[in-house]
Formats: sequence, C-alpha cells, structure tokens
Amino acid sequence: MKDRLLQEIAVLRREAEAELAAVPDTSAAEACRVKYLGRQGLVTSILKSLKDLSPEERPEVGREINIAKEILESKLADLRERLKHAELERSVAAQRLDITLPGRRTKRGKRHPLRQTTREILQIFTDMGFSVHRGPEIETDYYNFEALGVPADHPARDMQDTFYVEGGYLLRTHTSPVQIHVMENQRPPICAVFPGAVYRRDNDVSHSPMFHQVEGLMVDRNISMRDLKGVLSTFCHRMFGSGVGVRFRPSYFPFTEPSAEVDIQCVICGGSGCRVCKQSGWLEILGCGMVDPVVFEKVKVDTKKWSGFAFGMGVERIAMLKYAINDIRLFYENDMRFLEQF
Ligand code: DAH
Repeated sequence: MKDRLLQEIAVLRREAEAELAAVPDTSAAEACRVKYLGRQGLVTSILKSLKDLSPEERPEVGREINIAKEILESKLADLRERLKHAELERSVAAQRLDITLPGRRTKRGKRHPLRQTTREILQIFTDMGFSVHRGPEIETDYYNFEALGVPADHPARDMQDTFYVEGGYLLRTHTSPVQIHVMENQRPPICAVFPGAVYRRDNDVSHSPMFHQVEGLMVDRNISMRDLKGVLSTFCHRMFGSGVGVRFRPSYFPFTEPSAEVDIQCVICGGSGCRVCKQSGWLEILGCGMVDPVVFEKVKVDTKKWSGFAFGMGVERIAMLKYAINDIRLFYENDMRFLEQF
C-alpha cells in the first residue's frame, strides 16, 4: 500500500509538471488545478487515502504528498501570474491605437466638366465687366421666337425642332430669349452674359436634347462691330490660348444684323486639316452680330441712342473642343472614370 502510493505520487508529480509546462492560458491552468488540487482531484484523493495507512507508514507518505501539493500549488500560482501578465500584454497590444498610421482618405468630389467650362467662360466675361443673369427654361413663343425677329411663318423655325409643352409653352431652344427679359427689365447700358440649359429635338454624337449655352449682350452708346470683335477675340484667346487664330465669317440670324460666326483655328490639328475640322482647319464656336433694330423695337430701346451686339455659344461644344471629347453623351453618363479626368 505504502509503496504503491509513493510510486503514484512520483508519477503524479512528473505528469503534473509536464502538463503545467504545456498550459497555454489561464483557463487551461484552472483545469489543471481542478484536476490535481480540486475536491475530486488526484492529490486530494491521495490525501484522503492516508487514513487507510498504518500509523508508521502515514508520515512518510504524508510528507511526500504534501511536498507534491506545495510544489504544484506554487508552480500553478507562478504560472497563473505569468499567463495573466502575458494575456494583458496581448490585449493591450491588440487594442492600441497606432496614431502613426495614415488616415483613410475620403474621395473628394469635383465639379462636372460642363460646370467647370461654364465657370471658365463666365470668368472671362466677368473679368471684362459683364454681369451674369439667368432666365427661365420654360418660355413662350413670344420670347423664344417672335421677339427675336422669328415670326410664326419664318423658315428659321424649321431649323429648331422645338419641344412644345402644354399651355402654349415651350422649352427654350436657345438662351437668346434672356436678352428680351433683360432688356424689358433694365435700361441700357447693358453688359451681361446668360448661361443655362436649352432644349432641342436632336440626339446623336454631337447633339443632345438638352445642352447648355452662354449668351451675351452688350448695349451702350456707339457700340459697333469693333466692340464685338474686340470682346469675342479676347474671349477666344483666353479660352483657347493667345496664339490661336480667330476669324469672323458672315452669317445670318433673325435677331442680329449684320451677323457673323466666329471660328478658331482647329485645336486638334492646328489648322492643317483633320477629321474634327472636316479638313477646313477651322472650328465654328459661336454666333454673333449687331442687335437687329427689330429686336430693339420690341423692347422699346431707342435705336437712335443705343446700339449693341449679342452672341451665343454652346458650352458642350467648347468643352469638347478644349478637351478633345468626341461624344457629347459622355457628359451625361456620369461615369466616374470619365469625370475624374477633369
Ligand atoms: N441663338 C443662336 C443659336 O442658338 C446663337 C446666337 C447667334 C446667339 C447669334 C446670339 C447671336 O446672341 O447674336 O444658334
């Protein structure tokens, strides 16, 4: 009995020490304590069996089991201490904020290329003293056509395929009607530009049913074609570069007389001829002219005192030429890969 117990104690010590050496965490350490030192534990059961020994055998076995118990207890206490410390270190390391890490960048929005182009156009004119006005996109026949010298049976109306809406209204086909609103509400001198959306029944690579124009109007004493040429040449040079060639070509509009179209040297080929300028070396970028007396009469501006010029340009067309974009629909698809390039 005694020898068996002593042997059991020796085995128990070896096994317990090996087990403790392999304990990975505090919960495994607790399981180990329960296994050996708990109320049903192996050490406890040997202690309980001491009573079955003779009084002579008891002290030796008792001493051995008590030594084993103390060693186990102190090793367990050490181990628990070490494990607790390591676990704390780990959790502190895991939770620590590393303030040296770069922050996560949020994507910044950008202005749409058409807005950028409109702003650029307006900036050039405001730098020359023009102010900015806006007019309604839903118009009457009077403002869109009649007051601009386009009577009901005028063939020019066929040129503009109009969106008519109920109640005798239409979506303006150009920004020129803003000229009428402004002259009705303000006496000369007038020096202003009018940006905005316009609508036509048109849809292909270079036409959209909705697009944008910037209109301009200058009315003052002794305004002549020289003023028109000066202002619009300055605009072209600031918009497309001071070296670009600019030419004024006679044209016709019902609301100007004389009328002209302004061409710039092709920005794609530099004037030598390419597909974009249809081999001409020139690109048409705006229409203009001296305000027709018929228009002044409609808004009761005295033509003996005042004269003026007007012009109108397409924002999409200017942006397409400036950035070499070959399909107008790209502006309205809102594909980030396209928009991010500007
Ligand atoms: N309204 C014309 C268009 O949409 C453009 C235009 C031409 C405007 C000549 C003007 C002008 O003010 O004088 O095609």
